[in-house]
Amino acid sequence: MFPNPEGRSAKLTQRAMQVLPDGNSRSTIRLSPHAVYVKDGKGARVTDVDGNELLDFNNNFTSLIHGHAHPGVVAAIQEQAPKGTAFGFATEAEIELAEMLVSRADGFDMIRFCNSGSEAVMNAIKAARAYTGKGRIAKCEGAYHGSYDFAEVSLGSGPEAWGDENRPNSVAYSHGTPNGVLNDVIVIPFNDVERSEKILNEHAHELAGVLFDPVSTQIGLLPPSPEFLDMLVRFRENSGALLIFDEVIAFRQGYGGSQGLIGVTPDLTALGKIIGGGLPVGAVAGSREVMDVFRVDGKKARLPHGGTFNANPLTIVAGRAAMQDWTPEAVDALNAKGEACREALREAIRIANVPGQVTGSGSLFKIHIHGREIHTYRDTYPIGLEADRVVALNHRLIGNGVFCSSYGFGCLSTASTDSEIDQLAEASVAAYRQMREDGLYDAD
Ligand SMILES: Cc1ncc(COP(=O)(O)O)c(C=O)c1O
Repeated sequence: MFPNPEGRSAKLTQRAMQVLPDGNSRSTIRLSPHAVYVKDGKGARVTDVDGNELLDFNNNFTSLIHGHAHPGVVAAIQEQAPKGTAFGFATEAEIELAEMLVSRADGFDMIRFCNSGSEAVMNAIKAARAYTGKGRIAKCEGAYHGSYDFAEVSLGSGPEAWGDENRPNSVAYSHGTPNGVLNDVIVIPFNDVERSEKILNEHAHELAGVLFDPVSTQIGLLPPSPEFLDMLVRFRENSGALLIFDEVIAFRQGYGGSQGLIGVTPDLTALGKIIGGGLPVGAVAGSREVMDVFRVDGKKARLPHGGTFNANPLTIVAGRAAMQDWTPEAVDALNAKGEACREALREAIRIANVPGQVTGSGSLFKIHIHGREIHTYRDTYPIGLEADRVVALNHRLIGNGVFCSSYGFGCLSTASTDSEIDQLAEASVAAYRQMREDGLYDAD
């Protein structure tokens, strides 16, 4: 099944290499030795071009809250497409989706749409700068917030560059990142109240905001401690810097997102993924006072914000259909399935008798390929053979008919059933056993 050097996916990869750098348009979906090309998807399953069926626990990196080709979303797109897909005018549907979303969280008085989570994070940072008149931001070491260069600083940074834990370095993610960008991003250690508060206080006078993801995948889905959240709120109150939540993934955790569950109301929230029903989307939501930076006052807004496809009706009607079916009951049912899934994955680790642990909450899970205690980003960083195990687990899971992600992270959709969770657990046991045969656990 995977890898299959003779299959159509392998041949398409070779063809893609001729016209697409590295064969794709998206570093996050890269697979070696060849990509898997998908023919179609329905519910919790996809079929590849070689006819293999895969259980999909990736759901386009968490964006498909109802799985593939959800009937309500398909119907909404089919109804809208013949009427036009994008206009240089406003449409009523935009107001309807905005109304649905602002009714869900205390932190959302107003909302502004864009086309991706990266854009949402970028616009939230720019809004914080425009509101405070300050240029710098702070973020947690390791955290992923999309591809805006300020948000990328210290993403996935490793031991060779991360520096002293008392004062983590601002590490460039892409070659050629300007020093000015690194200089304007202050990096704090997740869940380390004392060190983070000290660093933030030193920069209190120059920070526009603190960017924070309550369920950071790159920080191993470790839950933020109440003390760390209190510290962030305290810092906001003492400094005037805004609290910016990145809920591009986290919004799926509760009816009102993660903020509703942890009881912290940020000034700004970056949204994306599920609110577009599977189509490209992003949004910034926030308090009326802060969101006012987008309003034209006199000749120009403090933060002018265009975008040819912002709030295009195809995305908006798909998002509206998805959100209509994302009821409080649907959220609770999915999150209960999430707990059962994490338990099944833990049981798989016990049955295969390999080191490992599973973190996550709501509908998200992350498989850690070691048994070390993990409290901080640096603890979660794979060391030595662990990095090989992470890659091998992804490959072996695909070979056993399941797709999560290249780093042991996955999610459920409302289309996931108990039997699919059982199959995920069985595939995990088979994958771990194959990895043991491959010698990946010999050093333990
Ligand atoms: C937490 C978080 N923020 C931002 C983004 C960027 O979103 P997009 O890929 O839509 O640009 C992602 C994408 O995975 C994400 O996980």
